[in-house]
Amino acid sequence: MEIFSVLGLVFAILCSITAEYACNGDTYLAACLESDHDALIDVKIGIKDPENRLSSWHGSNCCQWRGIACDNTTGAVIRIDLHNPYPSTSDTPRYGFWNLSGEIRPSLQKFKSLTHLDLSFNTFQGIPIPGFFGSLKNLQYLNLTTAGFRGSIPPNLGNLSSLQYLDVSSQPLTVDNLQWMTGLASLKHLDMNQVDLSLVGSNWIEVLNKLPFLTDLHLSNCGLFGSISSLGSLNFTSLAVIDISLNSFNSKFPDWIANVSSLVYVDMSQSIFHGRIPIGLGELPNLQYLNLFGNQNLSADCLELFRGSWKKIEVLGFSDNKLHGKLPASIGNMTFLTDFDLSSNGVGGGIPSSIGTLRNLTSMGLGGNELNGTLPESFGQLPELTFFDVSSNQLTGIISEVHFSKLSKLKILFLSSNSFILNVSSSWVPPFQVRNLDLGSCHLGPPFPDWLESQKELMYLDFSNGSISGSIPSWFWDMSSNLSLLNVSLNQLTGQLPNPLIVAPFADIDLSSNLFKGPIPLPLAEIELLDLSNNQFSGPIPPNISESVPDLIFLSLSGNQLTGEIPASIGEMMSLQVIDLSMNNLTGRIPSSIGNCSYLKALDLGNNNLSGAIPSSLGQLQQLQSLHLNDNMFSGEFPTTFTNLSSLETLDLGNNRLSGNIPTWIGNGLANLRILKLRSNAFSGGVPSNLSNLTSLQVLDLAKNNLTGSIPESLGDLKAMAQELKINQYLFYGLYRGLYYEESLVLNIKGQSQKYTKTLSLLTSIDLSGNNLNGDFPVEITKLFGLMVLNLSGNHISGQIPSNISSLRQLGSLDLSRNKLSGAIPPSMSSLTFLGYLNLSNNNFSGVIPYRGQMATFGESAFDGNPGLCGYPLVLKCEVGEDSDKGNSVENEDSDEFIDQWFYFSVGLGFAAGILLPYLIIATRKPWSDAYFSFVDKIVDRLSWVRERRATRNRNRHHQ
Ligand SMILES: *[C@@H]1O[C@H](CO)[C@@H](O)[C@H](O)[C@H]1NC(C)=O
Ligand SMILES: *[C@@H]1O[C@H](CO)[C@@H](O)[C@H](O)[C@H]1NC(C)=O
Ligand SMILES: *[C@@H]1O[C@H](CO)[C@@H](O)[C@H](O)[C@H]1NC(C)=O
Ligand SMILES: *[C@@H]1O[C@H](CO)[C@@H](O)[C@H](O)[C@H]1NC(C)=O
Repeated sequence: MEIFSVLGLVFAILCSITAEYACNGDTYLAACLESDHDALIDVKIGIKDPENRLSSWHGSNCCQWRGIACDNTTGAVIRIDLHNPYPSTSDTPRYGFWNLSGEIRPSLQKFKSLTHLDLSFNTFQGIPIPGFFGSLKNLQYLNLTTAGFRGSIPPNLGNLSSLQYLDVSSQPLTVDNLQWMTGLASLKHLDMNQVDLSLVGSNWIEVLNKLPFLTDLHLSNCGLFGSISSLGSLNFTSLAVIDISLNSFNSKFPDWIANVSSLVYVDMSQSIFHGRIPIGLGELPNLQYLNLFGNQNLSADCLELFRGSWKKIEVLGFSDNKLHGKLPASIGNMTFLTDFDLSSNGVGGGIPSSIGTLRNLTSMGLGGNELNGTLPESFGQLPELTFFDVSSNQLTGIISEVHFSKLSKLKILFLSSNSFILNVSSSWVPPFQVRNLDLGSCHLGPPFPDWLESQKELMYLDFSNGSISGSIPSWFWDMSSNLSLLNVSLNQLTGQLPNPLIVAPFADIDLSSNLFKGPIPLPLAEIELLDLSNNQFSGPIPPNISESVPDLIFLSLSGNQLTGEIPASIGEMMSLQVIDLSMNNLTGRIPSSIGNCSYLKALDLGNNNLSGAIPSSLGQLQQLQSLHLNDNMFSGEFPTTFTNLSSLETLDLGNNRLSGNIPTWIGNGLANLRILKLRSNAFSGGVPSNLSNLTSLQVLDLAKNNLTGSIPESLGDLKAMAQELKINQYLFYGLYRGLYYEESLVLNIKGQSQKYTKTLSLLTSIDLSGNNLNGDFPVEITKLFGLMVLNLSGNHISGQIPSNISSLRQLGSLDLSRNKLSGAIPPSMSSLTFLGYLNLSNNNFSGVIPYRGQMATFGESAFDGNPGLCGYPLVLKCEVGEDSDKGNSVENEDSDEFIDQWFYFSVGLGFAAGILLPYLIIATRKPWSDAYFSFVDKIVDRLSWVRERRATRNRNRHHQ
């Protein structure tokens, strides 16, 4: 140290007496060559420098100028560093003030000795990278990142055979052929993140494989695609860093990676790799960072993969893949591990207690797997742990104070969706101050968890479904002002809530499904989500709601005992996307001001005592996707302004007193309609034939009206019912920050009303029962291969059931009772293997009942009231010779054919057999629809869980 400062002093003295030499701080510098001086002045002329960064660029000794360094013996300029020291990404963003722009004059190529050129973080507004850079033969370092260049990277950069560092990342550059790179024989560090390489094909990896010194390779988000799984012979002997994340390879995992023993850092996340992760990866001796997150289809048996020594590993990311198997105890050997993310895979087995030895672990994500067993007590021994997620597994057992004994740094804890029982003493003071606590469906109660009182930093709190009863203690409302998320839904909490509720601005408050009483409490801060549904709140909706929470996005007060009218001020809450006031005792008319809520996506006012005409202003809601006005006393005609509701997917006006014709424009105006329910009104006239233009229509319920005429042939053209089912999420309306609204609908199927939610998007149904429809059985309906429910009962339909009715392969419920149908029951019906409900009673069918196959599962009541029908199960015997069908009847119940069909059906939905098989077994024992829907409910539950979880994670990241 001292020697250097003495040297510095000596140079300083030397400088002051020697005119030839110039000094810059402690560095001893040569005087600049005149030719270099002139060239720099010319370079300066080209550059626009609004902040006068180059103010030092005057005088004769250019070696002293800002950013310039010269060779200390020849005086030639060897370094030009014009990078912007205040990029927008830094803590003190001053981007725009220090930027250089303008042109780069060809005089730059005169610096033949230049080894270092840095123009990074400037704004050369879309000029191309000058080709003459390729003539700077001695260049070792070229940094042009985020400098505002655009266009093709000039191939003659390939002449830079001394270049060791090349950074051209983060700007709209393209390369169509990487062949020139083979000339960069000295290259160590290549950064082309975000450069468009989508035209280079898949030989880029072979080109780079020819660069023997390459250590750092950054090709993230370059539009690369195609297989990189085979490589001639492996030349990467020095490669330490490889980042090829965010590409679309759609390639088998390149096994050769596991042979590059020099690797320290590997990021191959979100790049569509599939296939097996090579076991050898676990043996890479120097690896510190491995991220394979979000490829979705990478598989490995954890027991094998994590048995690898991975002696130096610090970060391991595998989330959103298909890892399976169990975690081995040897995972405890990775003592340098700080971040471990295995969430959203298929990992089973227990959490090894050896994790307690991972003393450096700060973050561990195991959520969304199939882990079972208990949380080992050694978990409490992780002193650095700040983030821990085991949500959505099958973990059980008691979690006690021991499990947290040394977790003093814990900030984020997700234990939800397991079967944990949290058993801590009421006087427990946790060693941590947690910020984000997700304990959903952990058994916490019955008393309120008092230890929460110690948690002063809580921002996100979810203890929904926690078996907690009694009232919320008053201290809770003293700490609630920091809460951005409060979810206490699905408990048995009682009592009145403080009014106003005190929470943080923009909070999401979910107090639904409890036993809260009293008037509706309104928050003091402007919040986003307020869900008070399914409680015992009473009284009116506060008329000042719009003043209290003007920025609310989601409002649900459904399922309470609210009375009075809907306040007109609701129309002043312009951010609302969901209003659910269903299942209360609201009276009066719909305030027409609701038409001002122009972001509204879902409006549910069903099951109240609302009356009057439906206001025409609802037709202004261009974004409305779901409208439920069912089960009220609305009267008048179908509002003509609804023709503007072009986003509408669900329209439920059932059980009202609406009259007039069903307008024919429905088929054109409501182009996205998926569900049309007008059941139990007083609509008259015909069924509009252009309903068939509704290509997404999957539920058509016009039952119990006064409709006349025949069933239009065009119904056979309803596209959405004529195709295989597939899971889709149209009926989850994604809102904002992970909020979503879930569609539901009550339908009458098999003579019973049932509420459908998650499975609704899979249901197809036509119900025209209880009208005055006549004419022949609409043969065209047999084109609807995807139809699951058909109910035409209680009309005057005549003619015969067409023999090709069996082409309705998905049919689960068929009700043709109380009509004038005649002729034989087509024998082909016995092949309708999903048919779980059949009612042909009270018609004029005749002949033998084809009582075999699926038909043999129905009793007498299905065929009653048809005087001409004979044979089993009816008492009336057929004439001798007719009775040929009875023999091979009942064995079908367990037939392989049934399972095969089921399998085919469900695989059609895109589910893997592995998930499916357990449910198949149930499926054969229960009526088809129950099994089917409960099965799909589970799957969709999982899907929506993944969505929700992601949203929460993003939120947490955002707030970390
Ligand atoms: C000249 O520069 C070289 C490296 O470029 C350095 O090793 C050497 O010490 C310098 N000489 C003087 C006298 O500063
Ligand atoms: C290029 O410059 C930027 C900042 O100006 C720096 O962050 C980056 O690491 C440099 N690239 C190389 C390869 O040194
Ligand atoms: C390996 O690198 C050398 C240069 O060091 C090159 O000549 C050879 O072609 C490379 N091999 C492959 C398979 O690319
Ligand atoms: C790794 O862990 C296992 C099980 O905990 C242990 O038996 C083994 O000795 C450990 N290996 C090394 C190299 O530390």
